[in-house]
Amino acid sequence: MTREYLATRVVGLKPSGIRKFFDIVATMQDVISLGIGEPDFNTPQPILQAGIRSLEGGATHYTSNAGKLGLRRELAAHLQRLYGVNYNPEIEILISVGVSEALYLAMNAILEPGEEVIIPTPCFVAYQAEVILAGGTPVEVPTFVEDGFQLRPEALQAAITPRTKAILISTPNNPTGGVITRQVMQEIARIAEQHDLIVISDELYDQLVYGVQHVCFASLPGMWERTILLGGFSKNYAMTGWRVGFAAAPADILKGLLRIHQYTIMSAPTTAQDAALEALVNGAPHVEEMRLEYDRRRRLIVGGLNSLGLPTFEPHGAFYAFPNISAAGMDEDTFAQKLLQEQRVAVVPGTAFGPGGEDFVRCSYATAYEKIEEALERIQRFMHQYG
Ligand SMILES: Cc1ncc(COP(=O)(O)O)c(C=O)c1O
Repeated sequence: MTREYLATRVVGLKPSGIRKFFDIVATMQDVISLGIGEPDFNTPQPILQAGIRSLEGGATHYTSNAGKLGLRRELAAHLQRLYGVNYNPEIEILISVGVSEALYLAMNAILEPGEEVIIPTPCFVAYQAEVILAGGTPVEVPTFVEDGFQLRPEALQAAITPRTKAILISTPNNPTGGVITRQVMQEIARIAEQHDLIVISDELYDQLVYGVQHVCFASLPGMWERTILLGGFSKNYAMTGWRVGFAAAPADILKGLLRIHQYTIMSAPTTAQDAALEALVNGAPHVEEMRLEYDRRRRLIVGGLNSLGLPTFEPHGAFYAFPNISAAGMDEDTFAQKLLQEQRVAVVPGTAFGPGGEDFVRCSYATAYEKIEEALERIQRFMHQYG
């Protein structure tokens, strides 16, 4: 075989820096993993039961392409209640296979070949790849700890070219735990308006915030019209394995996403849609219980890392701490590898999340409190040796 069967854009994709790491972790014993980006909680019982009832009741068929109307209606009411944004459930909401699919749809629906999407980094590992797969060009704009990982408006402005089509923001952020302030959002909004850009706002962790309020980008004056809001159930409701999320956007934009979804996915899993409806109706107390526990762990890990000489920005959302590890006298890749091999603690090098991650590692605190305590002891031993 002399011919390259795979498309150039696929061959050129970098393997995820996270997966590589987990392949190593999977071969080791007694590892405390602070590497995982998903809740350690199982899905709350009432949600689980709704899924079981759905299956047992014979809901084993396709749903409408956009998802069950009852779920879309409930979601519209939920978004209006929480953020005051109005989406018509008939034509402005699409139930997807997680935010992962919604991202894929959004990029493929809006991008012409070579159009640019500005992506503040560090960010979720799939963003750049999704843009490339859709034929676009990702333009990374690093954010910095001294700004609380907030995007600098002047850096955003400087990244804009005649080919810029969209900005892809994420709040709360994976991996930094940063939450975009209203003030920075207003700056982003001003620039988006000035250059007539679409804003794709990934708000998957919206309900996991600590001491601050989540601002829904589409709720800013004039932004609803140009925003594709992405959200879901994976993190808030501990439902990663169910594979359900959504995209909400003005009908003219949403119909593009729906067309691709119709031909590629058909409809999101029916069981998961029924469980997601229960999550919206009765999930709030469970979310609050998990949020309080994440907050307790957050204070433990952030305080612990800081006291070990690893300066850690105070994350206000999601479930990640993002310490600067330069005091260990090595780069983030070496730190993650040595810490895993010598102390059996798994963290993810910050550069897996793009520029701006140099000298940082991501520590997930979606892990039991006692395990975080043990991990901190192990990191202390590590820092005694290298710090
Ligand atoms: C910021 C962000 N967006 C999207 C996703 C994908 O989530 P989903 O399970 O909804 O596909 C993740 C998962 O880690 C994430 O952190």
